[in-house]
Amino acid sequence: MNNDNPDPSHILQTATAFWASKALLTAVELDLYSALAEGALTADAIAGRLSLEPRPARDFLDALLALGFIDRQGEGEQAIYANTPATAAFLTRKNPQYIGGFLEMLNSRLYGFWQHLGDALRTGQPQNELRDGGRSMFEALYADEARLGEFLAAMSGVQAASFARLAEAFDFSRFATVCDVGGALGALSCALARRHPRLALTTFDLPPVAAHAERYIATQGLSDRITVVSGDFFSDPLPAVDVITMGNILHDWNLERKKQLIASAYAALPAGGALVVIENIIDDARRENAFGLLMSLNMLIEFGDAFDYTGAEFRDWCEEAGFRSFEFIPLAGPTSAAVAWR
Ligand SMILES: C[S@@+](CC[C@H](N)C(=O)[O-])C[C@H]1O[C@@H](n2cnc3c(N)ncnc32)[C@H](O)[C@@H]1O
Repeated sequence: MNNDNPDPSHILQTATAFWASKALLTAVELDLYSALAEGALTADAIAGRLSLEPRPARDFLDALLALGFIDRQGEGEQAIYANTPATAAFLTRKNPQYIGGFLEMLNSRLYGFWQHLGDALRTGQPQNELRDGGRSMFEALYADEARLGEFLAAMSGVQAASFARLAEAFDFSRFATVCDVGGALGALSCALARRHPRLALTTFDLPPVAAHAERYIATQGLSDRITVVSGDFFSDPLPAVDVITMGNILHDWNLERKKQLIASAYAALPAGGALVVIENIIDDARRENAFGLLMSLNMLIEFGDAFDYTGAEFRDWCEEAGFRSFEFIPLAGPTSAAVAWR
C-alpha cells in the first residue's frame, strides 16, 4: 500500500461486507439453492417459487452472480440461473455435505448479536440469548432433539475439510487408539477410521449427543470401528488412549477451563501420547489470522470469557501441564492442528 496516497477502497469494501454476507445468508434462508437443485430457472420463475417481488429478485440474483454464489446463462428476462459447483455441493439440502445449517445459525443468531459488539467490548459480557435473559443456545439445543441434530450436522460440515487433511497429515499409523473429545456426530472419528483401518476410535460427548452420533456413524457404515462414549469433560476422566483430539473445544472456554481440559488430556495419555487440537489458531504475532481473531470476538459474543489463542499460548499452557514437545500442522483455510506430545 502506498502511504503517501492512501486508498479508501479496503475500508469501504470491509465496511459494506455485511451486504454481501447478508445476500448469501438470505439465499440460504430462502433455500434458493435447493430450489435450483432440480434445474436452472429464470429470475421470474425463482421469484414465483420463493414468493419474491420480481424487480428486486433480479438485483438479488445478479448480486449473487457477481459475488460468485450463483451461475447465469444468457442475458435479460430469458436468462437462467443455476447452482455453482460449490453451492450445489454445500448449500442444497439434500446433499450430505450441506453446510447451510451453519449459515442459518449465522443469519438467525450471530448476525443480530454482532450488533452488540461494542457492548461486549465495554462489558466483557455475552451478547447472545443471555443478553435478554433467554436460555443459552446450548441449553435450548440440548432440550430439543431435532434442532440438536441439525446443529451437530452443520458443525461437522464446517470442519470436514480440516478433518480430512488431519487424517493425511498426522501420522496416526504409529498409534492404536484415539478419542475425539467433544466429538459431536463423530465426523472426525469417521475421517480417521476411513483413512487408518487399524485405529480403534472413541467419540466422547454429552449424553444428549450420543444417539445422534450413533445414527450418523451407522450411516457411514463405521459402527464397528467407533465407540460412542457419553460424559462431561469437566467432571469425568477422559478415556485412556494414545491420542486425544479436540476440535473447536478449547476456544469455547475461559483460561481456567482450557487448562482443566489440557490437564485431563495429559492425565489420560501415556508417555509418547499426543493431544491434537484443531482450531483457528492465531499466529503468534497476532497479525495475520483475521478469521481466528474474529472467531475470538465471536466467542466473546457467545460466552463472554471464552477466546481463541495463539500457538505460543497453547504451548505455554501445555508445558505447564507437563507436555514436553509441540508441532503445528496447517489444515484447511485458517484452521490448523496444534499437537502437544506427552
Ligand atoms: C463447537 S462443538 C465442536 C464439535 C466438533 N469437535 C467440531 O470440531 O466440529 C463443541 C462440542 O463440545 C461438546 N461439549 C460441550 N460441553 C461438553 C462437556 N461438558 N462434556 C463433553 N462434551 C461437551 C458439545 O456437545 C459439542 O459437540
